[in-house]
Amino acid sequence: MKQKIAIITFILFISIMSCQENITTPDNCNDMSSEPYNPTAYTETPPDGFPAMEHPDDNPITVEGIELGRHLFYDPILSRDSTISCSSCHELNKAFTDGLALAKGIDNLTSRRSSMSLINIGYSWIKNRPYNFMWDGRFQSLEEQIIKGPIEDPFEMDNTWEKVESDLQEHPDYPLMFRKAFGIDCKEDINRDHVSKAISQFERTLNSANSKYDQHQWVPFVYMSAEELRGLTLFLGDAAGSPSTKDAECAHCHSFSQNKALFARNEFSNNGLDSVNNLNDFIDLGYGAITGNISENGQFKEVTLRNIALTAPYMHDGRFATLEEAVDHYTSGGKSSPNVASELTTAPTITNLSASDKADLIAFLHALTDSSYFNKPEWSSPF
Ligand code: HEC
Ligand code: HEC
Repeated sequence: MKQKIAIITFILFISIMSCQENITTPDNCNDMSSEPYNPTAYTETPPDGFPAMEHPDDNPITVEGIELGRHLFYDPILSRDSTISCSSCHELNKAFTDGLALAKGIDNLTSRRSSMSLINIGYSWIKNRPYNFMWDGRFQSLEEQIIKGPIEDPFEMDNTWEKVESDLQEHPDYPLMFRKAFGIDCKEDINRDHVSKAISQFERTLNSANSKYDQHQWVPFVYMSAEELRGLTLFLGDAAGSPSTKDAECAHCHSFSQNKALFARNEFSNNGLDSVNNLNDFIDLGYGAITGNISENGQFKEVTLRNIALTAPYMHDGRFATLEEAVDHYTSGGKSSPNVASELTTAPTITNLSASDKADLIAFLHALTDSSYFNKPEWSSPF
């Protein structure tokens, strides 16, 4: 009897195992391997005066990857309730910002910081530096920003990667686009790495330097006005080798370091926005919260001033509504705290600017606007 029970149990055990076998190995490949995969390498000539852009070795840019990335960038499918896309907060004709002091995400929730421009964004990647992107530098690469940033942020898209992946796998059009860009064999192979790589490829094509300032240098018979040229001289000051009693000192941080054409040093510094006695008292610790170095509290990314007239309000928290207010902040000497950047504290000339000097400086900042890409089809929504 005992033997019989043992045999029956054994048979039952085997049959349960084989059932499970059937469940765990379903035919889970919606095969696409018969579709062509011939990605076309994409090469772009950098804008005049720009260096060649560095790319991560594991994400070469292809025409198919860019096209997929553009679709994903404009598609609200990435958010929990399909209402928010990257472009909700990064609008083409605002140099990919949103016109708000603090960005607005899903359910009308307010983020703690202001949206950032994406024009020439690929150039602010410094390969061997741990901190590159966001006001506080917390992401090393564009790919990492997409994986760890907006998709699962409860104030932005509030989605889960599992849902994004399954929505894309079941979509009528996307699987073929992923096949063409990355050569996946099954729809089920679509994953977050592909999504982040495709959007990053699209971002690395958002390069433009066709402002009046650029045309003045490269295009015959286009000249900046006398006012704009005076503004440029104030902006450059001693950074261009001409010490003067009137020097706005801007170029130390917004130009002339790695590459002057970018109008951004892309380092992190405290530009004197808040007055604190103790470095722990900044409301937003910025870069210091990421590096863990208290002397870097209150420091933020020295962003580009290209297209600055398109990206109001200004600073990481959008505190200045206009360029005039932003310039007044600097020319009034800023606020004091223990780690205000030396470029500002050792520059008494910055407070010497008259009303007409400030007007010239602002006229120059407007000459950094490039509107030639507005409505450019390759950068616009495909929907
Ligand atoms: C709800 C609005 C919102 C959405 C949606 C959003 N962003 Fe942003 N983005 C921001 C804000 C705000 C910042 C700055 C945040 C910070 O510093 O903490 C930012 C910063 C960035 C930066 C860093 C730029 C720099 O100079 O360092 C990149 C790149 C970026 N976003 C790309 C994207 C992409 C790609 C998507 C879609 C997958 C996206 N964003 C979705 C609001 C948004
Ligand atoms: C010590 C370096 C430094 C100098 C010098 C400097 N800036 Fe800045 N600038 C920064 C930093 C850092 C930020 C970002 C600060 C933040 O948001 O907390 C910034 C932000 C800005 C912004 C807002 C950018 C945006 O996208 O919101 C404007 C406009 C600006 N600076 C203009 C100027 C002008 C004009 C001058 C010269 C009068 C100047 N800056 C001098 C470091 C500097």
